[in-house]
Amino acid sequence: MSNETMTIFSPQLAARFDALVEKYPVRRSALIPMLLYAQDEIGYLSDSVIAEVAERIGITELDVRNVATYYSMLRFKPVGKFNVQVCTNICCMLSGAYELYERFQEELGIGHKGVTADGVFSLEEVECIGACCWAPAIQVNYEFLDEVKPEQVPNLLAGYRGKAGVPSDGSLSQGRKAQTEGKAADA
Ligand code: FES
Repeated sequence: MSNETMTIFSPQLAARFDALVEKYPVRRSALIPMLLYAQDEIGYLSDSVIAEVAERIGITELDVRNVATYYSMLRFKPVGKFNVQVCTNICCMLSGAYELYERFQEELGIGHKGVTADGVFSLEEVECIGACCWAPAIQVNYEFLDEVKPEQVPNLLAGYRGKAGVPSDGSLSQGRKAQTEGKAADA
């Protein structure tokens, strides 16, 4: 891509991409790393990301989408600042992963692929994340947490809210509050 071309990426990432496409004998081999780096910076694979990556590699946007849709770690919608992935595959399931997942749903007031209203959290039920010996395991962005118990969930979320700069004034339980109020109204 020429220097004059407008880019949606930071100058650092644009330079990284310029180097990356020259690194492989076949330019499209750079596709997956480029999509991952782009996702880290932009948050998800927007139409603009797909268009620019396609142009940089010299393939069509359809080619990019065909590859990207195959990988579950690549996403086409924005997620929360902290994306909580709970493994419910066999080892984790046998160690209480569903109870753990339900606790996250309850505390956050969202389900699979949901995002909290404040944009701080999103939640996903995922397949094995390679931490079977330490089940049940979760991953929050790039951080792995092992042998997580449902009763640890409120504190875990409070910790991440603190990192996001959200005051711990009870907003952690917004989802739960809404559920509780909903139940009370239904009663
Ligand atoms: S089954 Fe959950 S990490 Fe492997």
